[in-house]
Amino acid sequence: MKILLVGSGGREHAILIKLLESIHVSDVICAPGNGGMAKLAKCFDVGAMDIEGMIQLAKGEVVDMVFVAPDDPLAIGMVDKMEQSGIKAFGPNKKAAQIEASKVFAKDLMKKYNIPTAAYEVFTDATLAKEYIKKIGAPIVIKADGLALGKGVYVALTDTQALSAVDEIMVDKKFGKAGARIVVEEFLQGPEVSLLCFTDSKTIKPMVSSQDHKRAYDNDEGPNTGGMGAFAPSHKYTKDIAKVVEETILYPTMHAMNSEGCPFKGVLYFGLILTTDGPKVIEYNSRFGDPEAQVVLPLLSSDFYEIIEAVYDERLEDAEVTFKDAHAAVIVMASGGYPVSYKKGYEINGLDDLSDAIVYHAGVRLEDGKYLTNGGRVLGVTAQGDTLDEAISKAYDGVGKIKFKDAHFRRDIGRK
Ligand code: AMP
Ligand code: GLY
Repeated sequence: MKILLVGSGGREHAILIKLLESIHVSDVICAPGNGGMAKLAKCFDVGAMDIEGMIQLAKGEVVDMVFVAPDDPLAIGMVDKMEQSGIKAFGPNKKAAQIEASKVFAKDLMKKYNIPTAAYEVFTDATLAKEYIKKIGAPIVIKADGLALGKGVYVALTDTQALSAVDEIMVDKKFGKAGARIVVEEFLQGPEVSLLCFTDSKTIKPMVSSQDHKRAYDNDEGPNTGGMGAFAPSHKYTKDIAKVVEETILYPTMHAMNSEGCPFKGVLYFGLILTTDGPKVIEYNSRFGDPEAQVVLPLLSSDFYEIIEAVYDERLEDAEVTFKDAHAAVIVMASGGYPVSYKKGYEINGLDDLSDAIVYHAGVRLEDGKYLTNGGRVLGVTAQGDTLDEAISKAYDGVGKIKFKDAHFRRDIGRK
């Protein structure tokens, strides 16, 4: 099988490695890819949002399947357009991808089908939203409806923060049209767990659980980021909780999407908060998480492509989805100043002398044989171990060997 992988982050590097491990995959090409991916596969300069360009590439290179990994191309219907052109594409179609692309869609779905989530109201008017916030009071959470590069969620601890979030989204229009509607929701307390699942709309098979670290600095301080590190499995996600989640969240969500006429096929990500009232959904994503993929995929022991194909053909029930009995941790190395402002173009050294860790490249480009920083999140260093402590300490050993100017990483991944 020859596969075209769409995307350019650490998640895509992890997907690439897993695809190449499959006995069924003879070749993978990437677009646009990154410096690290270019070492393993031919990369083409076609943007992840360029549907026409991607179709031409898939046809010209005669690929058997396209794997659409990021949220944005899924949300604009890249899978639909590929299928219409006769190209097999893995990932949810545009209607199904709404589960991530519209928070209002996701919240209304959960309300209609009794899937546990935070109580909420939707607003299209800033004044009404503010009146509601003053009535309920902080802590309270304000979310822009549409995709906002992971920055559209404000966890407001005071009324003033909540009111200014409404101004930023609806009056200053910081996220453009994505902020035309907002969700104002109840603040939930408890540990957060990410649960990624394969689903073909008939069966849903969870992967190993994981925990992300969204804030930029140690002790969960600083601004929200795309994710500064993760580990798997989560010790908070017990067998008993898994059973409740399966019965009250996983299957109900799959059936709800079917009933709404938008069956979901692909990877469905459940962002959960384990409250004292039971597990509740805080978000859905229509794809692998980043950096969760960088700890979940290395632990997958079954053949990745076999699962992908089974999802595509709607026979996931028969596919083997098993994970190693081990732990994995990833530490994200970012450019100093991320997520606010940072410089690019610094040389990265020390990537060759790592034996106990895998380095997933994200914001990296390869120029004249040198790796240069090229984004906010630059690298993810993943290691495995028999215990979480072992995985974390090996990952930090790897981080210690890698050098680039102004590198920033959290020192407390997995320590909560
Ligand atoms: P999201 O972009 O939806 O993943 O949200 C970003 C982060 O905001 C989440 O990872 C949570 O830590 C936090 N968050 C979102 N919704 C809530 C909520 N209802 N209560 C408490 N924290 C939340
Ligand atoms: N790590 C969270 C996400 O991928 O959205």
